[in-house]
Amino acid sequence: MASGPLADQLAAIASRIDEIARADARQLADLKTELLGRKAGQLTRVLRDLPSLAPDARRAVGRQANALKHQIEAALAARQESLARGTQRADVDLTMPGRRTWRGATHPIQQVVDEICGIFKDLGFARVVGSEAESEAYNFTKLNIPLDHPAADMHDTFYLGRGLVLRTHTSPVQAHVMERYPPPIRVVVPGLVYRRDPFDPSHAPVFDQIEGLAVDEGVSFVDFKAAIDYFVHRFFSRETAVRFRASYFPFTEPSAEVDVQCQMCGGSGCSTCKQTGWMEIMGAGMVHPAVFEACGLDPERFTGYAFGMGPARIALVRYGIPDIRMLYQNDMRFLDQFVE
Ligand code: PHE
Repeated sequence: MASGPLADQLAAIASRIDEIARADARQLADLKTELLGRKAGQLTRVLRDLPSLAPDARRAVGRQANALKHQIEAALAARQESLARGTQRADVDLTMPGRRTWRGATHPIQQVVDEICGIFKDLGFARVVGSEAESEAYNFTKLNIPLDHPAADMHDTFYLGRGLVLRTHTSPVQAHVMERYPPPIRVVVPGLVYRRDPFDPSHAPVFDQIEGLAVDEGVSFVDFKAAIDYFVHRFFSRETAVRFRASYFPFTEPSAEVDVQCQMCGGSGCSTCKQTGWMEIMGAGMVHPAVFEACGLDPERFTGYAFGMGPARIALVRYGIPDIRMLYQNDMRFLDQFVE
């Protein structure tokens, strides 16, 4: 066994080997430099100083130093491998709080859409969808909106070229359904629609609508009012008052807008309902004979009602949300409140 200052240094270095087995990745890199570093590594220095020893001592210390070097290299490699495998991680703190992962949930607008479609399902309405890109024929002309009619402008359309538009409402699906399926027809059509409106507290350039259509022999405005009364009382509350106001749409005659008692103030007037006590929830009316004709149905034989509502706007009314943009910004602090 060699003795002397270099041998003492080797003993000191050997006593560090245990540390290697416990090191985390960073400590491991530090230990490697500290012990084997090419310039200032402790073992490197011992090897460098060997020539100062007498030949016998040099041989003994040299052998010991080389053995130690291999031992350290083996320990470093073993630790490296076990860290890479993730086993025996000395740096894992088991008392650390768990990392929270997000769980998916239904967006409040989708919740409202599903609930509305569910209520109409109980009234016999099937749920169908259409396409967001439509021809001008389906978005306008088949719905009795001539292309030079102000109503076509009113919709502030996004034109896609080649006679295609981003649908400005879900009403074109009425025409598709009437062309494809014979009456009796009862459908609700949820989907996105597009208008060149800037985002503001009550408008969005893309928003949700739900179209409703019922066509059969002998369907009257009374059937329409009964369906809407049923819907409002189930969706809002038994006590919520409903009113039908005369209005105008090219594809319905007569046309109406449906208001419900303001859910914020109960009807006494507040800033949400602009002091009217009412909130508009849909446009509606009896299907115009010209629309039946454009879709190949005999207006002498069939009648029907149609309605279009905005679930985002209805979500605002229901939950007292002050700004429609909140529904489209995906801020988790807002959305978290609607996790069921
Ligand atoms: N399509 C109309 C709109 O977007 C709403 C509507 C649908 C009105 C069906 C009457 C009948 O404003």
